[in-house]
Amino acid sequence: MVTKGELIYEGKAKKLFAADHPDRVIQYFKDDATAFNAQKRGTIVGKGVVNNKVSERLFRLLEEGGVPTHFIERLSDREMLTKRVVIVPIEVVVRNIVAGSLAKRLGLKEGDTIDPPLVEFYYKNDALGDPLITDDHVRLLKLATPAVVRDLKDLALKANRILTPFFKERKMLLVDFKLEFGVYHNKLILADEISPDTCRFWDMATGESMDKDRFRKDLGKVEEAYQEVLRRVCGTEAG
Ligand code: TMP
Ligand code: ASP
Repeated sequence: MVTKGELIYEGKAKKLFAADHPDRVIQYFKDDATAFNAQKRGTIVGKGVVNNKVSERLFRLLEEGGVPTHFIERLSDREMLTKRVVIVPIEVVVRNIVAGSLAKRLGLKEGDTIDPPLVEFYYKNDALGDPLITDDHVRLLKLATPAVVRDLKDLALKANRILTPFFKERKMLLVDFKLEFGVYHNKLILADEISPDTCRFWDMATGESMDKDRFRKDLGKVEEAYQEVLRRVCGTEAG
């Protein structure tokens, strides 16, 4: 039994609570959904349960493949016990197929393959709208050392090599995804979540979006898509 302590932080999709050890925190996954830097808000019923269980499965998979993560154990439908990290304020995006902001920014055709995969950094700063940044901006802003920048890229690409075939077996194309890393006792580890909120998945049979793009673009069947991801990733229904 882990005792849930005080609320430490509330974000857009999760709350963080103290655990009974100073090196640990409890992540609570909400159904709240936002897009476009919280200009669009809504609820995706059952999303918190899906994201908690999908993240658990993917963190376990990545750990087995040699990518260290903050995951310790899943405590309940909506709660996960994790290591308490200091988050590196860089969102690391890996892209295998052109979509989203990449298509828009550079005028590339959505759906085109990107080979080798592209790694991008975004400055995690809501007030600035999470801008795209280069390695030189990372140095200017002192967000990470050059050695950490190298590790962020290596770990993100390693995660991509593990996740891509896992989703392919489940008839899903891993189009792109966002990772956040944290420092735990001087070591860089994967943190936050990996879920339909933070990845793009396209159904290999139909090409349909199975992720938060359904909410962002008002495509309908949002809850159904999240449940389908849970079913394919964990082989279970929510509950
Ligand atoms: P983008 O194409 O909008 O830049 O998104 C790239 C990936 O990052 C996509 O899988 C969705 C994910 N993402 C987040 O997890 N959080 C965000 O705030 C944004 C904008 C994207
Ligand atoms: N993180 C974005 C927001 O701030 C949502 C998204 O597009 O994923 O609302």
